[in-house]
Amino acid sequence: MPGTKKIDEFTAEKLIAEAKAARENAYAPYSNFKVGAALLTEGGKIFSGCNVENASLGLTLCAERNAVGAAILAGERQFKAIAIVTDDEPPATPCGACRQVLAEFSQELEIITVNLEGHRLDFFLSDLIPHLYELK
Ligand code: THU
Repeated sequence: MPGTKKIDEFTAEKLIAEAKAARENAYAPYSNFKVGAALLTEGGKIFSGCNVENASLGLTLCAERNAVGAAILAGERQFKAIAIVTDDEPPATPCGACRQVLAEFSQELEIITVNLEGHRLDFFLSDLIPHLYELK
């Protein structure tokens, strides 16, 4: 059902911890803005990602899309939630490109954004990307 929370607090905290750990490995020498993401599958598995920057700045890979890539590679396509950890206030939400990529798989994804101080803001993907692009 749209707008209904799918994960409990214990699971949310686990997902946040995984995203925080992923953020530690972020390669962000150009922006110094590290991002960690952890994507929860419907079956309870977690796939993480961090941002990977490049001297050719436009080649930078976002944490969220790296997490999606890891999950897809493992054969997973149904997702419940993603936690995103940054050192930002308010905690950063996924960029437009990541919203579109996440929406390919679950428009009702729960999005948990957290910063290092523990400030947390939760969203539903459908609220962050209304009227998304769909190829008919
Ligand atoms: N970044 C992400 O990893 N995810 C987002 O949704 C927004 C931006 C990264 C890209 C770049 O390495 C850094 O954050 C600054 O934009």
